[in-house]
Amino acid sequence: MKIKEAEIKIILDSRGQETLEAEMESGKGKRVKSSVPSGKSRSAYEAFVLNPREAKKIFEEEVREKITKIDFLYQDEFDNFLIKLDGTENKKRLGGNLILALSLAFARLKAEEEELELFEYINKIYQGTMHRVNPTLPRMIFNMINGGSHADNDLEIQEFQVIPQHETIAEGIMAAKKFYRELEEELKNRFEAGEIKLGDEAGFSAPIRGNEQAIKILKETAREFAFREKISFDLSLDAAASSFYEKDKAKYKLNKEELSAKDLEEYYEYLIHKYGIIALEDPFFEDAFGEFAIINKRKGIYIVADDLTSTNPHRVKMAVDAGAADAIIIKPNQAGSLTETIEAAKIAHEAGWQLIVSHRSGETEDDFIADLAVGLSAWGIKSGAPETKYRLNKYFRLSEIEKILNKSL
Ligand code: PGA
Ligand code: ZN
Repeated sequence: MKIKEAEIKIILDSRGQETLEAEMESGKGKRVKSSVPSGKSRSAYEAFVLNPREAKKIFEEEVREKITKIDFLYQDEFDNFLIKLDGTENKKRLGGNLILALSLAFARLKAEEEELELFEYINKIYQGTMHRVNPTLPRMIFNMINGGSHADNDLEIQEFQVIPQHETIAEGIMAAKKFYRELEEELKNRFEAGEIKLGDEAGFSAPIRGNEQAIKILKETAREFAFREKISFDLSLDAAASSFYEKDKAKYKLNKEELSAKDLEEYYEYLIHKYGIIALEDPFFEDAFGEFAIINKRKGIYIVADDLTSTNPHRVKMAVDAGAADAIIIKPNQAGSLTETIEAAKIAHEAGWQLIVSHRSGETEDDFIADLAVGLSAWGIKSGAPETKYRLNKYFRLSEIEKILNKSL
């Protein structure tokens, strides 16, 4: 495919910070856009994020001319060209954000040229050398209460999530929206209106007394909801434990206490048992392969690797070898290209892990991850609370995909 024109623009993300948007036009006159999000609780193993203005400059001085000269046949050819041009271990020179913006735009453009839906295009690549994995719809993991580095409150656990058990995606979104409003009412009963705010992922932030209290509030809201609306919600957590790990002491600072990894594991055991939590993400800090492996022996819950694996094929292999988890977060901007994102997903899938495709806390309006989740046949998708355009448009795109899939049945 010949790229006739490519442009990089600076846009603002949901936190009001600058990020990159790529615009691309093919020889046949098709035109697409893609943009990249940015994380706050980032691991040390993610692709380098270059200052957007520097990235735009390097694109205009060096990259644009090169990519509009070559006829790229495949996604991996395009991505690998940019990775090689960058030439560094972590995409420091061109920026993982620049490479990803271009990689995602290329995918959208190539899908258009091939007259495929984006999820079909991704699925085609994913199937490449593997046994058949048909596109399927993921479960939606809604982040209802925000803590950790995403909110200004006392909760160390970053994300308190609910997962509706629904018939259709539209029904799931509606139920989540209703749940969200009921949770807001519940919080208004407990706190002053001025104390209730939104965190980075549009979940609520309030002066809730401790992590268990936040889980309890969700559990009670879910119980009443199931009784009245006949829709059940499962509970899950993203501890994002790197953010409360004190490296010098090798301790976790949680609930105003200093906990060893063993103490923390016991605390999780207690929460899992008492509240029936079905998935626990990043229970320990980002290099704690051993501790992950111990808690992963527990049955009946998904142990989800995010910072630990950082959508980095090499890290995913290490985690698989260590038996560190049985589910993985897939974030394209941790990897810095679609090809490496798919490679990381494939390694995890072949090890029998479930995939959860995820947004970042600083999001754009691009809904690419919805197609990615379906194309990779992911078990779940995380796109924050059912509120604000940045979070909702990914869920809405899923609903659209559901209609497309139903039509083709
Ligand atoms: P981030 O958080 O986007 O701020 O890194 C998301 C997560 O930890 O899952
Ligand atoms: Zn996470």
